Amino acid sequence: MSNLKIDYFQDYKIFSQTAAELVCQQLARKPDSCFVFATGFTPLGLFDRLSAAYRLGKASFQSSFLVELDDYYGIHPSDSKNLFQWLSKAFLDRVDFPIHQTVRFQTDVQDPDRECLRIEDEIQSLGGIDFLVLGLGANGHLGFNEPGSSFQSRTRVVKLTEASLQSSQRYWGEDSKVPGKGFTLGLGTLAEARKTLLLVSGKEKKPVLKKLLTQPPSPDLPASAVHHFDDVRILSDLKIS
Ligand code: F6R
Repeated sequence: MSNLKIDYFQDYKIFSQTAAELVCQQLARKPDSCFVFATGFTPLGLFDRLSAAYRLGKASFQSSFLVELDDYYGIHPSDSKNLFQWLSKAFLDRVDFPIHQTVRFQTDVQDPDRECLRIEDEIQSLGGIDFLVLGLGANGHLGFNEPGSSFQSRTRVVKLTEASLQSSQRYWGEDSKVPGKGFTLGLGTLAEARKTLLLVSGKEKKPVLKKLLTQPPSPDLPASAVHHFDDVRILSDLKIS
């Protein structure tokens, strides 16, 4: 069995509340933290609670920084599928996160490799990632690090797998075409974060969570890179037997 720390919750509300408390503790410890937040369905409850904490004067992101985890490549920055737009609607616009303290992928650049180096440089200038909030893909992906990604990989453009394209389709509806390529912070980049919170929610994640906790780390399961991260906590609303 794994040495990873995992907490199970009976329901999504308590799971999200606990995640929000951990983010608030980080804010209290270091208000100028550099955060990375996954998009997708899993963190929506966390974002609701953080925005409620902000409205009640219990949390402020005024001094914080944010680096985007992943985004599609080859779409206009104002495209509704742009993940930074998604994150803004779901979270950033609902709290006091200053836009000039956020770093996003320019999803329509001519030179994507250069864009990836820029993002790595931005992370270095911010002093590294303090607090990383990840979701788990049903195929084991982390960010857009698909199966086969090296644990040492850096920020790059990847071709999205069929499984990830189908999973992304849930966000945009059946008729919407999901871009085939994406930018992602690499697994090696993510491994340098000081603290990581991996959020696992959704029945379809049960098999992958079980693999993560019971099998030796392997690039076939990108999420298993977290075995080598410094300070990781997994929260899940799924109990695996
Ligand atoms: C999104 C991301 C993805 C999701 C994962 C889980 O920015 O990085 O890795 O975290 O696909 O998605 P949900 O939460 O929608 O099941």
